[in-house]
Amino acid sequence: MSLSKEISKRRTFGIISHPDAGKTTLTEKLLLFGGAIQEAGAVKSNKIKKGATSDFMEIERQRGISVATSVLAFNYKEKKINILDTPGHKDFAEDTFRTLTAVDSVIVVIDVAKGVEEQTEKLVEVCRMRNIPMIVFINKLDREGKDAFDLLDEVEQKLGLSVTPLSFPIGMGYDFKGIYNIWEKNINLFSGDSRKNIEETIAFDDISNPELDKIIGEKHAADLRENLELVYEVYPDFEREAYLKGEQQPVFFGSALNNFGVRELLDCFIDLAPSPRPKQGDVRLVDPYEETFTGFVFKIHANMDPKHRDRLAFIKIVSGTFERNKPYLHVRNNKKLKFSSPNAFFAEKKEIVDISFAGDIVGLHDTGNFKIGDTLTEGEEIRFKGIPSFSPEHFRYINNADPMKAKQLNKGIDQLMDEGVAQLFTLELNGRKIIGTVGALQYEVIQYRLEHEYGAKCTYENFPVYKACWVEAEDPKNEEYQEFLRVKQKFLAKDKKGQLVFLADSAFSIDMAKSKYPSVKLHYVSEFK
Ligand code: G4P
Repeated sequence: MSLSKEISKRRTFGIISHPDAGKTTLTEKLLLFGGAIQEAGAVKSNKIKKGATSDFMEIERQRGISVATSVLAFNYKEKKINILDTPGHKDFAEDTFRTLTAVDSVIVVIDVAKGVEEQTEKLVEVCRMRNIPMIVFINKLDREGKDAFDLLDEVEQKLGLSVTPLSFPIGMGYDFKGIYNIWEKNINLFSGDSRKNIEETIAFDDISNPELDKIIGEKHAADLRENLELVYEVYPDFEREAYLKGEQQPVFFGSALNNFGVRELLDCFIDLAPSPRPKQGDVRLVDPYEETFTGFVFKIHANMDPKHRDRLAFIKIVSGTFERNKPYLHVRNNKKLKFSSPNAFFAEKKEIVDISFAGDIVGLHDTGNFKIGDTLTEGEEIRFKGIPSFSPEHFRYINNADPMKAKQLNKGIDQLMDEGVAQLFTLELNGRKIIGTVGALQYEVIQYRLEHEYGAKCTYENFPVYKACWVEAEDPKNEEYQEFLRVKQKFLAKDKKGQLVFLADSAFSIDMAKSKYPSVKLHYVSEFK
């Protein structure tokens, strides 16, 4: 098969949702359709169960499973589907943000009863900023939930999306009859039997046909006619171009648990969703169909065995093909590297492969060469944009609790930060180290891993910071900037890349700094040029 055929058949995407909306269940049903697994229950939930936040065994278990489910790949109707796992737990949100740099589109799962929840809002905002094409799946229609129109409104208001339904529910909860598929113009009747792979589908072009009353009953038929009239009146026609630009989002309804509406979603997804998209590098836009290989690291995973400190670096192939044993340039280190056992992912297995294509993810064994965001190429010096760090939510000093193990501690901190577990800031004034995290859970993870993987002990001390702002000076030599540096000295730190950061203790101090030093720009993300 030609390079362009291989690439154009790839669909690399992520499923995002608030925990418990049904992401794991939907993933599993998609895999069933692809024949990648044989039975339900095979995909283990990778989420941290409620109330288990300080249970280290749970954290370790989660790390193990999340390697296995990092990428779930399967073939379906001549397409190669790569699902990238995105942790739903909010303490791992940064992980999810980074994974979103490697997807070409996403499916957003929403619980029909709960509507739009906090974590969905945050994740969708990141997708919106990057114009990632999104399909919305409203799940759990077998349960009582919100009115479909109210939900569509809520999705528009809270998520800032422009939706257009491509299916519409008939009844709900105990009275759920099925869905009308606006896209394929047919009715899918709900049987409630999850073992059935194909639901009963009746082609139904003209819903004014009285046959409809016989199939779903008079009341439901009347409701459906009225609802669809409203849908056609209120929502714009679906336009693929608008969807691809991130300007319009199609919506589907169903029940993942009952395997209902999932085939429609998948069939429509493979038709609509984009194949690998071009990616912006610092010097040029890279097209996936270029013959030479480029790729970048979006995730690093420490292996489970503490005796072998090797890690798995996940590379998204941006262009061309990645081949086993071929030397590639590690751009940041200006070093050629060869990989004798690149892993590709298939369902829940990983296996060594000779060749992978743009859109695919390969896992490379790494002994400490890689950092998140690193680029690999065939020689070109290019760096991919779009893997910024966001301001953490929590900040603590990290102290060495065992003076004999200072070296181990520093090495451990260094490597854990490269993996992206948390962010490190070094105070300009005294060189003290501050760890910034999205959730409090990470502090326990770091402490545990430092001890078990590096033999080092640490303690934490609170450091009251409201937000980390990356500093950009219009002119580093001007007096205003010099004064800013002098006055704010106590609050200035360097991040891991050596960029200057202002650790502001309140929203007020950010506002004050902005008005007093207008030529000093403060950014909430590390990548602003
Ligand atoms: P998540 O990955 O988004 O966190 O959600 P997950 O798939 O684990 O689903 C959360 C719960 O919602 C699970 O129940 C799951 O069975 C249920 N669920 C998913 N889809 C549907 C659906 O379409 N209808 C109904 N009624 N329930 C659904 P649980 O009791 O928390 O877990 P489990 O013991 O069933 O695994």
